[in-house]
Amino acid sequence: MKITVIGLGHVGAVAAAGFASVGHDVLGIDIDPSRILALQRGEPFLYEPGLQPMVQAGVRRGSLRFAHRDEAADPLGDMAIIATGTPPTSSGAADLRQVRSALDWIKSKEPRRLVLVMKSTVPPGTGRRIIEDDLRDVPISYVSVPEFLREGRAVADWSFPDRIVVGSDPSDLASLDLVKRAHAGIAAPFMFTDVTSAEMIKYASNAFLATRISFINEIAALCDSVGASVDAVSEALAMDSRTGHRIFAGVGYGGSCFPKDVRALDHVALTSGVEVELLRSVINVNNRQRLLPLHALRRRFGGSLSRLRVAVLGLAFKPNTDDVREAPSLDLIEALVSEGAEVCAYDPQASETARERLPENVRLASHPLDAASQAQAAVILTEWDQIVSADWQSIAQRMMPPKFVFDGRNALDKPQMLRLGFAYLGVGRGGATESTIE
Ligand SMILES: NC(=O)c1ccc[n+]([C@@H]2O[C@H](COP(=O)([O-])OP(=O)(O)OC[C@H]3O[C@@H](n4cnc5c(N)ncnc54)[C@H](O)[C@@H]3O)[C@@H](O)[C@H]2O)c1
Repeated sequence: MKITVIGLGHVGAVAAAGFASVGHDVLGIDIDPSRILALQRGEPFLYEPGLQPMVQAGVRRGSLRFAHRDEAADPLGDMAIIATGTPPTSSGAADLRQVRSALDWIKSKEPRRLVLVMKSTVPPGTGRRIIEDDLRDVPISYVSVPEFLREGRAVADWSFPDRIVVGSDPSDLASLDLVKRAHAGIAAPFMFTDVTSAEMIKYASNAFLATRISFINEIAALCDSVGASVDAVSEALAMDSRTGHRIFAGVGYGGSCFPKDVRALDHVALTSGVEVELLRSVINVNNRQRLLPLHALRRRFGGSLSRLRVAVLGLAFKPNTDDVREAPSLDLIEALVSEGAEVCAYDPQASETARERLPENVRLASHPLDAASQAQAAVILTEWDQIVSADWQSIAQRMMPPKFVFDGRNALDKPQMLRLGFAYLGVGRGGATESTIE
């Protein structure tokens, strides 16, 4: 099957390489010439474990090609997938300009019959409007197939998703059949529904995960105040089949999806006149969490952070990605620098992507030990293996008193850190007891 993927970011690049890997003939389109060049060379411009070999294999076989939108001469084939970005506007609404531009391009390009698959996350109701307004007089069928992959595990999630949600007109059997055949080779159950429900499923998934994070963070705040351990609480919750898999307390969610999608859903509610108190609270709790390290440092160092040397360990919003969109590190570092602290940061992959968004006087280290050297405080914001399994004994020797460590991901072993002489503080880890399971 011939498939065109429009928009080659975290989702589109993985989708293009993924469809090529199961035997389709894929053309990837973007408007960013540097992204196209990098992909043509088999060197994805983003760090995602497993993506590079998958792109290289497709390019080598000739089943995966890339072209700039203005230079793409080929017809689009059987299926065109929109995977462009839907960033937030200042009001919180999803900005659909990239989607609209991709849609206009498809229409200008392809007068033949075609199935248009929307993979970008668009607010509920968008697909229905596109069908009614934009596709009324053209032979293009519209199917919503939202994407659920996680950055840092995108290739594995692509190959083994929990489910493939397909939203369409149920009477359009030809399009449904095409979508099913495109996904043959991916072992996952299909869930068929209408377009607007598929769009809502995507938002509800992200909003629910964000809610769980804000919930455990609120419990963590209570744990700190009563002297309980949120580690024990969340571990026990995860053993109850009704409450779901384990979730960790910390400095809150970030990244390109959760913050923007929860805000976009809140905006949908606002414009529909529906009260959504829970979503508002989820956003507020998360905003509060992101400030925890700053408050902890101010408390520990008597209010003034001037000339305080702080190591920030982790810039990416999560491990195994170089994505820093809405990463807690950016806000924290900006606040620290504006209060006069001297910041040295370390991240195994995201230093380059973060550089242009950081104040100029922030130093970047190539090793956690270098970042922490001579620092009075260290803040862990991303639970990379390179940070969690760093040589903390050597870090203790290199840091200056009081060797304050704020573990914003509860990733380190608290008793061990105390033994090594750190003044250690986690999130909701005020309890003295350690839990054991037999
Ligand atoms: N990043 C994730 O983990 C993730 C997961 C699930 C769903 N999503 C959703 O998928 C969509 C894409 O996300 P992303 O993170 O890959 O975005 P991204 O910003 O990383 O990539 C978007 C790409 O689209 C290109 N583009 C913009 N306008 C274009 C146009 N008119 N024609 C061709 N290309 C164009 C950009 O140059 C860029 O390469 C978003 O709606 C997002 O919410 C993202």
